[in-house]
Amino acid sequence: MPKKILYADDDPGLRRLVQRGLGAQGIAVVAVEDGLAAVERLRGEEFDVVALDHHMPRLDGLGALQRIQEMPDHPPVIIVTGEQDSAVAVTALKAGAFDYVLKDASGQFVPLLLAALKGAAEAMRLRRAHQAAEDELREQRDRFERLAAERAMLLREVNHRVANSLQLIAAFLQLQGGSSKNAQVKAALTDATRRVMAVAQVHKRLYTSEDVQSVSVDQYLAALVEDLAKTDATSEPALSLAVEPIDLDPDRAVAIGVIVNELVLNAMKYAYPDEKGPIRIGLKRINGKHAMLSVEDDGIGCNITSMPRSTGLGRSIVGAMATRLGAEVVYDPAHSGTRVVITFECGPQSPA
Ligand SMILES: Nc1ncnc2c1ncn2[C@@H]1O[C@H](COP(=O)(O)OP(=O)(O)OP(=O)(O)O)[C@@H](O)[C@H]1O
Ligand SMILES: [Mg+2]
Repeated sequence: MPKKILYADDDPGLRRLVQRGLGAQGIAVVAVEDGLAAVERLRGEEFDVVALDHHMPRLDGLGALQRIQEMPDHPPVIIVTGEQDSAVAVTALKAGAFDYVLKDASGQFVPLLLAALKGAAEAMRLRRAHQAAEDELREQRDRFERLAAERAMLLREVNHRVANSLQLIAAFLQLQGGSSKNAQVKAALTDATRRVMAVAQVHKRLYTSEDVQSVSVDQYLAALVEDLAKTDATSEPALSLAVEPIDLDPDRAVAIGVIVNELVLNAMKYAYPDEKGPIRIGLKRINGKHAMLSVEDDGIGCNITSMPRSTGLGRSIVGAMATRLGAEVVYDPAHSGTRVVITFECGPQSPA
């Protein structure tokens, strides 16, 4: 139900009629004598609905309608026309009027006008509610996007710090190894350094990439292998890498990295007792959901059943990481040398 309306009509009798008729329904009617007066009134005051007679001096109903349409956030307009010119009604609707009412001199049309006013006010209320809901939705979405961006930035920041701290720990271990006279201690600390670096690399990948939730395992392994080659100052291992682009969540990426680290270290340590030989690392998708990781050498080979239980830490680390991946560690018996294959679930290929 509209509370306050603006009514323009050059007939003072009809103005009074409408004011009285609608006033009885509790509607405040501001009545003016023509279109120009209506437009001026609208500039300074708010109305729920505007009703305009068509034939008026100075500015007629259609003319006033046009000007009102140009106002931002204007109320709905109803055109009131004499029965003889119903063509005006059609023009008015096309020009953006909400409704039209055919009037008569006796005032029979007032109830019709009331119905039209109610319809217009209700339509306006719905439109505003709809607009408010849309604004709210947009705001929520903006807020969500802002939060997501903030969160990604924080995650990147955290990964940066974690990577730095891990690198610091690796440096300490390396220093300690370097200062030790005991060859066994030295070797153990070098291994420990590499294990820490393997994990550090994942965090480095996470703050340098666009996506903070996943790691490009191919790039990660490339960096890891580079680290491995670097830390082995005594020899030049012939490490070669054939990895397909695969994205993984950080947890599984760490597992893959740690496994590769252990297997490559083993190959570097044991496969070639005399002269160095090739060590190959492979990673490829074998179907929509699985990928296969392999680390192989052409060295002396290792028989897992008669494997000497040295420290054996490497093997348990590999086992634990494979369990994390839900995968099994398979030593390929057909390969001369050592070939370790791990098949794991990697999810569907992300669209490039
Ligand atoms: N690629 C390989 N070629 C030949 N022998 C290997 C190879 N990988 C592993 N081995 C043998 O398997 C043993 C067990 O490996 P594992 O990684 O479990 O322990 P480690 O390397 O001796 O100790 P750690 O990993 O704790 O430093 C090794 O001592 C080695 O004799
Ligand atoms: Mg080992």
